[in-house]
Amino acid sequence: MFRPGLQRCIEPRCNATYALNDQLYVCSLCGGLLDIETDFSAPLNTTALKQTWNERLASSDTRDRSGVWRHRELLPFADQTPIVSLAEGNTPLYDAPRSAAYCGLQSLLLKHQGCNPTGSFKDTGMTTAVTQAQLLGSQLVACASTGNTAASLAAYAARASIQCAIIVPQGQVSSAKLAQALDYGAIVLEILGNFDRAMGVIRELAEDSSIYLANSINPFRIEGQKTVAAELMQQLDWRVPDQLVVPGGNLGNSSALGKGFKELLDLGLIDCLPQINIIQAEGAAPFARLFDPRDKYRPRSDALSKFLPVEQPQTRATAIKIGAPVSWKKALRAVEWTNGRALAVSEEELAEAKAMIGRDGIGCEPASATTVAGIKRLVSAGIVGKEEKVIAVLTGHLLKDTDYVIGYHEKSNAGQPEPRTGAYSNHPIAVEATRDAILKILEREQQKRQLP
Ligand code: F0G
Repeated sequence: MFRPGLQRCIEPRCNATYALNDQLYVCSLCGGLLDIETDFSAPLNTTALKQTWNERLASSDTRDRSGVWRHRELLPFADQTPIVSLAEGNTPLYDAPRSAAYCGLQSLLLKHQGCNPTGSFKDTGMTTAVTQAQLLGSQLVACASTGNTAASLAAYAARASIQCAIIVPQGQVSSAKLAQALDYGAIVLEILGNFDRAMGVIRELAEDSSIYLANSINPFRIEGQKTVAAELMQQLDWRVPDQLVVPGGNLGNSSALGKGFKELLDLGLIDCLPQINIIQAEGAAPFARLFDPRDKYRPRSDALSKFLPVEQPQTRATAIKIGAPVSWKKALRAVEWTNGRALAVSEEELAEAKAMIGRDGIGCEPASATTVAGIKRLVSAGIVGKEEKVIAVLTGHLLKDTDYVIGYHEKSNAGQPEPRTGAYSNHPIAVEATRDAILKILEREQQKRQLP
């Protein structure tokens, strides 16, 4: 229906364009980020398209089984493109009453992107990036990562029989994520230095066209991730929520959701936009600093000229321990398009929010819990009303970082810096292996744990 378009520099003063099959990640004239622009000019029957997407839910075609490729009309690929897919997307939208009450909301929905094949939202972008790598005939795909991008790229590269190299900061990636990358057969390179250093090195390496870069600076990643907007809207019966809340690290995800929603609006599939709220961890919050807490966390007027990386980012949510997010300009654009906000939450707020998401029987990795912590702040400050329809995007699975979870519940900091309050901590109880001893403890614990 739509024709694949082109790549365009997002810098208004540059605006340079490139063909879709030009292998580049930033504008070669000005270094600006690139957008993929699909030609949506053909007349669109929105009702028919929504119906097609619905019908595909019942299909067994590989493309229809993927939550990303099911929405292929939004993607810059020709119809018969051979795709690299693990049936990504199709993630649940959960009602979370305990987390809602914790935030002061009447209700809260959690879009759990941790339920993707490799346990994080990265899969929705990796399917399109590795499909593009395959189209270009790449022999080696590579990324820098705090763990999830690495696990995801390793899996998709293995599916496509393309060699994969990942660069990770040594000692700063959870063992679950590392285990995935190793099992999928990637070349795992550990550097001394943080994620930002790894990102710098990989960008230098990718100047050589024999290496295909699969970080979210690559606009083909963003294309896959943007389809989450369509999947979410279908789950909501096309009723647009008031607020969408996402964690912010390298800022690819928030950029993608912004693009996704904007395109749905431009196509007439929705009639307004949700406000996009980006939440960072306090010790790694270069983006949130561009926003003014005294002005309801709206962008400062000079935000575009005031970005400064954080030299030594710190947070126990290792997935978002990032000081120089490459996509900050696209994320700022997404917030401005949607009249959204950005803020940072403390390690305590994040830890307690994460435990609360667990109490809803859902769970997530630490970075994802910035969302619920951020919502709690926004509601208690009166910026988000308790009756508003709010969606938090959980980006990674609970089992991605079990050291963090055990640490929280056992209240042992395992050499990690404070703080941890552990209001919801739930440590194992040693007990004698007798009926009486166990019954006694069960009685005591049941009373202690009366649910609200
Ligand atoms: N949540 C999780 C679980 C992540 O792994 C990441 C990023 C984010 C949130 C932030 O998303 O970067 O698009 O703003 N992880 C990257 C990685 C950096 O290498 O796995 P973002």
